[in-house]
Amino acid sequence: MGAELGELSIIADGGMLVTDGLIVATGPSGEIEKQMSGDAEVVDATGRVVLPGFVDAHAHPVFGGNRVAEFEMRARGATYEEIAASGGGIRSTVRQTRAATEDQLLARALKHAAWFIRAGTTTVEAKSGYGLSVEEELKILRVTRRLNEETPIEFVPTFLGAHAIPEEFQSAPDGYVSLVIDEMLPRVADEGLAEFCDVFCENGYFDVATSRKILTAAKARGLDIRIHADQLTNGGGAELAAELGAITADHLEQTEAPGIAALKRARVQPVLLPGSVYALGKARYPRAREMIEAGLAVVIATDFNPGSSPTPSMPMVLSLAATQMKMTPAEAVTAATINAAYSLKRGDKIGSLEAGQLANFVLYDCADYRELAYWFGFPQAHSVYLRGERISW
Ligand code: NIG
Ligand code: FE
Repeated sequence: MGAELGELSIIADGGMLVTDGLIVATGPSGEIEKQMSGDAEVVDATGRVVLPGFVDAHAHPVFGGNRVAEFEMRARGATYEEIAASGGGIRSTVRQTRAATEDQLLARALKHAAWFIRAGTTTVEAKSGYGLSVEEELKILRVTRRLNEETPIEFVPTFLGAHAIPEEFQSAPDGYVSLVIDEMLPRVADEGLAEFCDVFCENGYFDVATSRKILTAAKARGLDIRIHADQLTNGGGAELAAELGAITADHLEQTEAPGIAALKRARVQPVLLPGSVYALGKARYPRAREMIEAGLAVVIATDFNPGSSPTPSMPMVLSLAATQMKMTPAEAVTAATINAAYSLKRGDKIGSLEAGQLANFVLYDCADYRELAYWFGFPQAHSVYLRGERISW
């Protein structure tokens, strides 16, 4: 938080002892070598940077199809809002997701998992939200569960039934809100399919009063809260996150000083998603410096999704954090690892390389961690380890 965000404990010529998937000790290589048993496997990281695996705390990795046609429309001058208003946007992905079987969705999501790993990410939050009916939302969350069984990385499930009003409820949106509260939430909670509940709190999607209603019902069912807040308009989403004791308020491109103060009072973590600002060709990035100066435990994430942020790359997000939000590379690394881990309630297991933590770490082909944010647009990860095992994907 605050100035601490920029303090990394870097060990030059460092070593790390790993046993049974857990970090047992870190320190100067010489010290670690003394503690090593004779038959230990040695990984030589000479000349390379070793960092905790990135924790991507805001992503939408399970969806059908893509929106490359909309991407071209935006290149030709249409805006995200115009495309959504004419039936594209989230609804387009909902149509493509509903048309896919569970196995087809899984096959696609496995490809996304490989992309995350290649970029050095070892934990990914996974929102539903492209099904928008009881069965279709459950289908996405079941695919997420299968991702955890079939990939070495961890996906943390979030229920986002309130992502948009589906076409069939366009003339009766209240009916959809009732469906979310009375039918989806009980099934999701009873089947243990999600840890968090999220809402897209925005004009034309779910207003503050409706978001409050849905999230209050989610809390009553034992889910923790994240909110898509103030992305396109400053509608009081940050204040709502504070009022409800949300774990995170995400996006915040339009949030002003009162919203930042509310987050601070309630200790809500901001999750900043510069990839979506960049990919939508917008200019207004969230006010990261003010949030850091206010002492907030800022997180940065990809917002990986087929519409507003088609990147699984945390290093790209680090680059955007530095160039567009004026975060230092050290602040960006903290925001992408330990702070992100705390925002997923896993700060005691992942996000740092310390004794007792899971041995999820990545070796990079560079000698200084700042190079990760500096060279941009290509993966620099050399090898990725999960629970002490090198994975190839
Ligand atoms: O976080 N803002 C809402 N949801 C996504 C966009 C989803 C989409 O366009 O498919 C986001 O940017
Ligand atoms: Fe999102």
